[in-house]
Amino acid sequence: MSLSPTEFDTLTRLAIQAARQGGTILLEHAKKGFQIHKKDQTINLVTEADLRSEEAIIQTIRHAFPEHQILSEEQGMQDTPTNPVKWIIDPLDGTTNFAHGLPMYNVSIGVEYEGACVLGVVFDPTRNELFLAQQGKGATLNGTPIHVSVTPKLNEALLVTGFAYDVHTAKDNNLKEFCAFTLRTRGIRRTGTAAIDLCYIACGRFDGFWELQLNPWDTAAGKVIVEEAGGRVTNYAGEPYSIYGQTIIATNSLIHQEIVDVLRETRST
Ligand code: IPD
Ligand code: CA
Ligand code: CA
Repeated sequence: MSLSPTEFDTLTRLAIQAARQGGTILLEHAKKGFQIHKKDQTINLVTEADLRSEEAIIQTIRHAFPEHQILSEEQGMQDTPTNPVKWIIDPLDGTTNFAHGLPMYNVSIGVEYEGACVLGVVFDPTRNELFLAQQGKGATLNGTPIHVSVTPKLNEALLVTGFAYDVHTAKDNNLKEFCAFTLRTRGIRRTGTAAIDLCYIACGRFDGFWELQLNPWDTAAGKVIVEEAGGRVTNYAGEPYSIYGQTIIATNSLIHQEIVDVLRETRST
């Protein structure tokens, strides 16, 4: 079984509508204020805006498709019967930025069909940038097709990465890798928003991205967007990426093997 073009378009319109709805809620809260809570003993935060954006997005999807599966960051997996369509939602990616008033965050909505990521929407309300990709149909930014960069070599590349919330205590904390790439590239950035990192690979603003311990809601949409923009997404071993896996590399394809090699070398010493 597969989705018909009409069904695919209906899901796409709904994903865009829900992402914009979430984005509007985030902007409203950024303006009027919000409560912040610590999620656990780490530096992981959750704000009122995460929760309100999530409620609105889930309500919109539920209203249209009560039978679909939904996995979202704050509410987890909804108790629904098995259905080939699964929505994977990050209602606010970039919570730490948001909590500090830094205008760099987004809503990320991915759709899996029979276990494969087929649709991705990432909406950055601060720049009014909407990234969209449907499997097999290319990727766009505000309706204009986007492509990965043509940077041919790691030593000419601008990379981006992030750190997990257990960075203060974890042994495998990405700091060795950060140093290794700093010495081999034009530069490294840390935006604090994994979904935007992936979209910026897709539109050529970054050449490569690597990170440990992301969750399905961080990458479900971005994976499709990078691949549809001509990029490559794998795990650290260079094998096919699963959004439920532990490691990710996303690149313009051209520098992919160099990143795999540096990670292997650095992590084995
Ligand atoms: C976080 C961001 C960040 C990444 C973290 C994620 P959140 O998501 O994407 O860039 O480094 O690992 O958890 O918590 O802001 O939705
Ligand atoms: Ca996230
Ligand atoms: Ca989040």
